[in-house]
Amino acid sequence: MSKSITLSVIIAVCVAAYSCNKSATNTATNTPATLELPQTTYQYYEVRYPERFYDSLNRVATLGRVLFYDGHLSLNNAISCASCHKQALAFSDNAALSVGYEGRLTKRNSPGFNALNRTSNLFWDGRENNINNLALKPITNHVEMGIDDTAVLPSKLAALPYYQDLFVSAFGKSTITAGKISQAIAVFLNSINGNGSRLSKYNTGQKDVLTAQELYGMQLFDTKYNCAACHSGGGGPYGGMPGFKDIGLDQTYKDEGRGGLPGMSAEKGKFKVPNLANVALTGPYMHDGRFKTLSDVLDHYSGNIQNSDNLDTLLKKSNGEPMRMNISTQEKQAIIAFLGTLTDYEIITDPKFSNPFQKK
Ligand code: HEC
Ligand code: HEC
Repeated sequence: MSKSITLSVIIAVCVAAYSCNKSATNTATNTPATLELPQTTYQYYEVRYPERFYDSLNRVATLGRVLFYDGHLSLNNAISCASCHKQALAFSDNAALSVGYEGRLTKRNSPGFNALNRTSNLFWDGRENNINNLALKPITNHVEMGIDDTAVLPSKLAALPYYQDLFVSAFGKSTITAGKISQAIAVFLNSINGNGSRLSKYNTGQKDVLTAQELYGMQLFDTKYNCAACHSGGGGPYGGMPGFKDIGLDQTYKDEGRGGLPGMSAEKGKFKVPNLANVALTGPYMHDGRFKTLSDVLDHYSGNIQNSDNLDTLLKKSNGEPMRMNISTQEKQAIIAFLGTLTDYEIITDPKFSNPFQKK
């Protein structure tokens, strides 16, 4: 109990004026905890949210941030969204499969977040399109947070001293509902949207930010190996298509991916083309985290593509056999260097996305 009171005091202070995260940067003490959402996110919500929310979006996101980092959303109070979506790792996890409630493992690898938006196909199999619905799913299903019925959450959170004020601030009323919890988390997730990578800078005209090796890697990625045929499009350059592809990881599917969804059996072995933003930080890779490093990923494309039933034609030779790219060591290094330019150090250090609960 005394811990909750301490937290409430800390959060009250955070919400009132200051960020509490001292570890994210040395100078974070004067950072407002109220999130200033990127303009694009704001515009998006202007369209989707009732008018009365226009002015309070930052406060809704602030609430979402607290919820995102709060273990009370799990049954044993130990697992928060951030347990598997870590800011320092661009909101991914460094385990192949993540550990949830009572040590249970997730079925798939935790992806990072950047520029999630309403048109995204969410999850590796795209089973959810609406981020407002998604935010509550982790609590009940996509991972083990131990709570089967989100109807129990409002009263649980209402018993914590800090949520009354946060809900009043965000929604004008202290009433907590599952829908509001979900909306607030969704607004926070949508606010995680940065343009701080060196590639973004390059694309906005700062041509000297990339090295010769990185530029060579970009050319290999865009042209010679045609990676960009899939990895470009929605969500910025090198975002997912968005679309679903079988890249020949296994001859026989261990996880049917999109084909496991009702009525989608023709899509076996297809997974969402992931957004490569921050990819240097989001390993291990693929839907099941099978590859530890980007070098392992390139070995797959270079020489290990399997002849699976739905292997994408972009990864086949004209005779139908799996493509053998035979990417040289030097080329692999250049592609990896290029992928490193997609890291957005602002997102991973920005105090407004950091844990508002102060660690003792
Ligand atoms: C125990 C680990 C774990 C916890 C806790 C967790 N997640 Fe996830 N998250 C995952 C995994 C694994 C996936 C991929 C699941 C899949 O694709 O089937 C995922 C996927 C997602 C995605 C989809 C991203 C995309 O690009 O498709 C979002 C958004 C998300 N989680 C948000 C949350 C939120 C919000 C919470 C807290 C309410 C949360 N997660 C809690 C492990 C976790
Ligand atoms: C036919 C479309 C397609 C092409 C071409 C393609 N990819 Fe992919 N890529 C995907 C899909 C789909 C996944 C996810 C597969 C899975 O997890 O089952 C993926 C995964 C990845 C990942 C792992 C991302 C993560 O977060 O786990 C990297 C890195 C990657 N690709 C790089 C490349 C590179 C480099 C090339 C060119 C040599 C390339 N891709 C060509 C579709 C493609």
